[in-house]
Amino acid sequence: MSHHIDIPAPTPEDKFSFGLWTVGWQARDPFGDATRPAMDTVHALEKLAALGAYGVNFHDDDVIPFGSDEATRDAIIRRFKQGLADTGLAVTTATTNLFTHPVFKAGAFTNNDRDIRRFALRKVMRNIDLAAELGAQVYVAWGGREGAEYGASQDTRVALDRMKEAFDLLGEYVTEQGHDLRFAIEPKPNEPRGDILLPTVGHALAFIERLERPELVGVNPEIGHEEMAGLNAAAGYAQALWHGKLFHIDLNGQNGPKYDQDLRFGAGNVRGAFWVVDTLLAGGYDGPVHFDYKPARTEDEEGVWVSAEACMRNYLVLREKVRAFRADPEVQEALEVARVSELAVPTLGGGEGWKELLEADLPDPEALAVRGAGFERLDQLALEHLYGVR
Ligand code: GCO
Ligand code: MN
Ligand code: MN
Repeated sequence: MSHHIDIPAPTPEDKFSFGLWTVGWQARDPFGDATRPAMDTVHALEKLAALGAYGVNFHDDDVIPFGSDEATRDAIIRRFKQGLADTGLAVTTATTNLFTHPVFKAGAFTNNDRDIRRFALRKVMRNIDLAAELGAQVYVAWGGREGAEYGASQDTRVALDRMKEAFDLLGEYVTEQGHDLRFAIEPKPNEPRGDILLPTVGHALAFIERLERPELVGVNPEIGHEEMAGLNAAAGYAQALWHGKLFHIDLNGQNGPKYDQDLRFGAGNVRGAFWVVDTLLAGGYDGPVHFDYKPARTEDEEGVWVSAEACMRNYLVLREKVRAFRADPEVQEALEVARVSELAVPTLGGGEGWKELLEADLPDPEALAVRGAGFERLDQLALEHLYGVR
């Protein structure tokens, strides 16, 4: 029996978006020079639109080179806007480069050097205005250089004070400027710093609750970053959804705890990717389906577009697989056996409190202990859908 599944072509309704720095990456790494020429941003827009993408995300410096004078900046923005209009692509998201220029070598919002912190915040505010003008609704904040390699070089608690000060100021800024923009903090455990502040989704969620305007700030979990920390990315996305904080997503691929691989989505931990898609569909995530990956250094421009197309195709493949898994009557039966829906029933009955629970007639724990959970069958069904044999 053949199990051919028709995978639809990506369309703007799928809301796929790409960082301009992804397809535009020249593939410079700590050991080697660029293997690809710089890519013109308008060319990137044209290619992405032709592949069926919906939108783009950019760092200020991806579009406007650091240090450009006003006239150059204006001309670049005019041309970029024309490119957006011609291709119909949306700017879903924008962010700030607070990591490439040597001024940020010891951090931006949490640099010990106050002058650098002030400069960093101004850089962000400037790009927020452009983001809002271009219609972005989410502003990503990845603090790649916020952190340390040494115990004494920075006081983590004080650094968190400055981090809070920065987000409080930016929240006040968008509110007073009337921008319809929310922030999404992107956690990462390490790289480029030895230890980065707000290293996981959990750290970021806890931090957000201490802000003056917590409602303006959510998270942008990247699959690879959670997996670098040895964590289950789908569980991180699920918790962010539970908190109402999944403002944005960075989909890519990673093979376990090692350097940040930024593989195309669907490469790397395939099983993890399946559960991420399942989590997003089940949780009703409706923001941009954003890819943050790096086309391998081995590739020429042709390989860049192959990998961009593959990110979208792999999402659509996994979406089909997840839907088929959820619609499978055998899966539904296995879910029943595994009592998955019973978890939604509150532990105490209506009107019951701790007193009633103390007095209730409970089954013998020895009898409860012998019941099998049925998880192996359920998981094998998921794997068989993923392996393409169901
Ligand atoms: C990484 C990060 C970055 C950020 C991006 C937004 O791979 O370490 O994902 O790519 O997402 O720079 O600021
Ligand atoms: Mn990454
Ligand atoms: Mn990212």
